[in-house]
Amino acid sequence: MKVSHPEGNEIAPVITIDGPSGSGKGTIAGLLAKNLGWHLLDSGALYRIVAARALDLDIALDDAAALAAMAGSLSIRFAEDLVEVDGQDLTLVIRTEAVSAAASEVAALPEVRDAILQAQRAMCQPPGLVADGRDMGTVVFPGARLKIYLDASAEVRAERRYNQLKNKGLSVSLRALLTSLQERDARDKGRAVSPLEPAKDALVIDSTDLSIDEVLARIHTEALKRDLVDGV
Ligand code: C5P
Repeated sequence: MKVSHPEGNEIAPVITIDGPSGSGKGTIAGLLAKNLGWHLLDSGALYRIVAARALDLDIALDDAAALAAMAGSLSIRFAEDLVEVDGQDLTLVIRTEAVSAAASEVAALPEVRDAILQAQRAMCQPPGLVADGRDMGTVVFPGARLKIYLDASAEVRAERRYNQLKNKGLSVSLRALLTSLQERDARDKGRAVSPLEPAKDALVIDSTDLSIDEVLARIHTEALKRDLVDGV
């Protein structure tokens, strides 16, 4: 994919939503994009896709050059709730715990992050983009007009994921989920490149005791203040 996207030369408004796993950002970003009629970038899905393909192709999770070359060659299609990669349906595979863990490993490699940077910026198209991830406000869209950092306690985040998986009929242990979530948090926050942290100009929202609607209302108020949405 070849797209020219100089930083700061915004062709459409961007709202970034960063935060740790289970903070609710995926749900919030999806609803916000739908309400506004804007595009949605689920950047975590891109790292999950690279990880799933690496596991499938037996590429070592620390082979930065091979992973970056593979990432750059992928043809990805997001349609409704479907994720298609090189014509293959990876919708369910990328949500497994094995892929979650592998995704945070490949995401620590600068070569992999560079390989998908332009593809992420290319998603910034009119009428606007809601970008969900870890480094949307700090690295990918530093000029975004509204940056949200959504957080919640690790226990509440693990419980949310537990309920999500249980509703899908999957049996998991809450304790195992909490441990894996804390491991991923540590890896995402501790890595040298694009660590998970709030952008300096981000609005931090702790969703531990907030409902989805309350978080959305708060973001909407901020978007209104910045003239990103209509007041109706
Ligand atoms: O958000 P999600 O859980 O789908 O992300 C999967 C993994 O991808 C995260 O644990 C993180 O390591 C990585 N990621 C990242 N930068 C992003 C989005 C996700 O490093 N912008």
